[in-house]
Amino acid sequence: MASKLVAEQNISNESRKRRPSPPAIKLLIIDDDPQNLEIISAALQQHHVDITAATDPEEGLELFSRRRPGIVLCDLMMPKLSGMEVLERIVAIDPATEVILMTAHYSTDSAVEAIKKGAADYLTKPIELNRLRSRVATLVDEAEKRFRSAQLDQELVDNYRFCGIIGRSPLMVEMFARIQRVAPHYRTVLVTGATGTGKELVARALHSLTPAAPKQLAVCNCSAVAESLVESELFGYVKGAFTGALQDKAGLFEYANGGTVFLDEIGEMPLNLQAKLLRVLQNHEIQRIGSPAVKKVDLRVVAATHRDLKALVREGKFREDLFYRLAVVQITVPSLSERREDLPLLERHFIERFSAEYKKPVHGLTRRAQAVFSRHAWPGNVRQLENAIANACMMTATEVVDVGDLPENMRAGDTVASSDSQGLMNMEEVQRRHAARVLEELGGNKLRAAEILGISRGTLYRLLRDTAASGEELEVNELPINSN
Ligand SMILES: Nc1ncnc2c1ncn2[C@@H]1O[C@H](COP(=O)(O)OP(=O)(O)OP(=O)(O)O)[C@@H](O)[C@H]1O
Ligand SMILES: [Mg+2]
Repeated sequence: MASKLVAEQNISNESRKRRPSPPAIKLLIIDDDPQNLEIISAALQQHHVDITAATDPEEGLELFSRRRPGIVLCDLMMPKLSGMEVLERIVAIDPATEVILMTAHYSTDSAVEAIKKGAADYLTKPIELNRLRSRVATLVDEAEKRFRSAQLDQELVDNYRFCGIIGRSPLMVEMFARIQRVAPHYRTVLVTGATGTGKELVARALHSLTPAAPKQLAVCNCSAVAESLVESELFGYVKGAFTGALQDKAGLFEYANGGTVFLDEIGEMPLNLQAKLLRVLQNHEIQRIGSPAVKKVDLRVVAATHRDLKALVREGKFREDLFYRLAVVQITVPSLSERREDLPLLERHFIERFSAEYKKPVHGLTRRAQAVFSRHAWPGNVRQLENAIANACMMTATEVVDVGDLPENMRAGDTVASSDSQGLMNMEEVQRRHAARVLEELGGNKLRAAEILGISRGTLYRLLRDTAASGEELEVNELPINSN
């Protein structure tokens, strides 16, 4: 790991050397008075800006759509279209644009209205040129900083990616080092961490870093509803072993022989299967269901769970001997709230991914949206962030994701009361909405949602079905629902 980190550092230094300087910030001036345009253009010449101007607001908007300036100076009173309308249309196209309104008829009400609508500033005419210069200089400076920080985030995403896992926080770097140390030697590893933290990615990293030529990775989700299915999937069976066993079939343990088996949701494995698994781990032997023949297998096993296995052992739901066997080597994936410094990198990574996937030019998040993300608790961890960005990229009508594109529970400061305030509801309605909200928070993971709600998965399905049947547009229907 040390060598990889040094290598990453070098890449980083290299790219820093090659990093291009920010382009001149584009600035558009819209004012029906040509003399004013000239004075303002002349006053701003010395700044690092690329100026265009229009005396006609419609033409100004057309120029805006074509050139996408970062800063717009716009007169308030113009024939045809007022500055306030121009502001509204610009913010609708790109909420990250800094719009400064200028007026000879100052009123506190319109200044407040302009700021509420997203204006960066409101200046009175005749324009004090020094004030204007210093305001534009600050905006240019901020835009250059944003450009550099986006550039840096991109480099960091490229450099702080370990087998597809993104992270630069000390907790993640420590985890990468642990994976790197463990990968060449382990026989069994237990990966723990809350839902959506990336346990499956860790399992895949462990498998891909195996020194021998890469062999199969077989994945089994132990929470499959029917116990007998898990058993036949893992061990295989012989013809006639049970009704429906029409021919011999190898199980995952045989299939993955020489490679890795990933036992996901190991905490859900039924007790009788736990005993059989222990035999596989201890003696490296398996038996197909219905067959007396014993086969030797050479396997690495990665088991993952979001549950507290020790507590399950205390409750008698998990075998103590299996727990100790699995927990010899343990890797814990930190939750997103413990490593908020990874948020900007993950945001950039997912924005790029969904922008490419949906073939939509989405470049980033507005500062307001970033602030909402950085305040959020993220109970569903990276999966929730991934779903929130996927949804926002789909919804946004502009090239940047703004607060309005985020799921409602995030916008509303995450209070149940706010969504319930639409009217008086009966208990069933409250239950439905709450279930949908929990499911959304967990990135669509129904198994976890049912656990947290303290209801069976069947009841959860029923609640969601009723929601769908009532034709209500709950946001959860827009999310890619995880079939877990
Ligand atoms: N550090 C990360 N970098 C990039 N993508 C990540 C990261 N962590 C998680 N993801 C993505 O988030 C989603 C959830 O990750 P994963 O399925 O590995 O979580 P999990 O811990 O197994 O969750 P669960 O306990 O609910 O099964 C996946 O789409 C994964 O690609
Ligand atoms: Mg998982």
